[in-house]
Amino acid sequence: MEKDKAVRGFSGGRDSIMTDRYGVIGHPIAHSKSPVIHRLFADMTGQDLSYDAIDIPPEELSSRVQQLLAEGFRGLNVTVPHKAEVVKLASRLSSRAELAGAVNTLIVHADGVVEGDNTDGIGLVNDLRRNLRTRLAGTRILILGAGGATRGIIPALFDTKPRDVMIANRTVDRAQTLVQDFRMLGKISACKFQELGGQAFNLVINATSAGLRGEMPPFPGSILGPETLCYDLSYAMQDTPFVKWAKENGAGRVAQGWGMLVEQAAESFYAWRGVRPDTRPVIARLPGSPGATDTMKMRLA
Ligand code: ATR
Repeated sequence: MEKDKAVRGFSGGRDSIMTDRYGVIGHPIAHSKSPVIHRLFADMTGQDLSYDAIDIPPEELSSRVQQLLAEGFRGLNVTVPHKAEVVKLASRLSSRAELAGAVNTLIVHADGVVEGDNTDGIGLVNDLRRNLRTRLAGTRILILGAGGATRGIIPALFDTKPRDVMIANRTVDRAQTLVQDFRMLGKISACKFQELGGQAFNLVINATSAGLRGEMPPFPGSILGPETLCYDLSYAMQDTPFVKWAKENGAGRVAQGWGMLVEQAAESFYAWRGVRPDTRPVIARLPGSPGATDTMKMRLA
């Protein structure tokens, strides 16, 4: 029963018509860690809310979201594959969601306005700065991949005032489109993986989806050094293919996206409840954290 609750959702307080309802929508969604993260946040902050994982296939997205809003849901997290489509369902967008062209959080305001927001970029930056204690101002950042995930993080990365951002992609045209779309934010350029050799970066972010299929693109190992932090937006219980590659090629530090997952959830929680949860106790339970026991890891798995 506990296990079932952890996967499908929870009711954070008394079951009453007053309990505010939230959830995460995606397809598939059973593997989502968001219900357990939001349960921990609700417990820690004493907020009375429920949070469910809701599977919605693409063809039912619009009707099911309207239905959830009619049922009184106060907010939704949005994950793969719906982040771009949900833009059309919001009555207004935050500036960061508009720049990202994607929504990972819907906020139902008291006046009924449904705002689309995007907390992915700030979630990444908060993980890099607060948890990984990484200085970003004046640094060289390389992003591998030029899809929706890359678009979502570029504005928040530029807020940290890096020296420059380079985007390398298998299909260079997609990287060039991002350069055109974001060149007003700072120094940004595009190239193919093969053109990266000989350059050094402080931060290398894997935003490709290759690892999800066990594939490893031909990134040149020469871009890594003892000062380089390699960050994989993907996360897994073991090392991801990118993290393995980074370790084998001499990266100074490696991290996968568990911390970003918790930090973006905290920003959503804050947008909904006006209360900022302490992410440290949740981060401490993540796979790879020194304080994580196997039981704790399993609760997030
Ligand atoms: P997401 O929303 O997760 O970013 P996406 O928009 O489909 O998903 O983008 C996936 C990214 O991973 C793209 O940059 C894609 O490269 P292409 O633009 O060339 O398709 C990249 N990608 C996926 N599989 C890859 C592989 N095997 N090798 C290299 N790049 C890969």
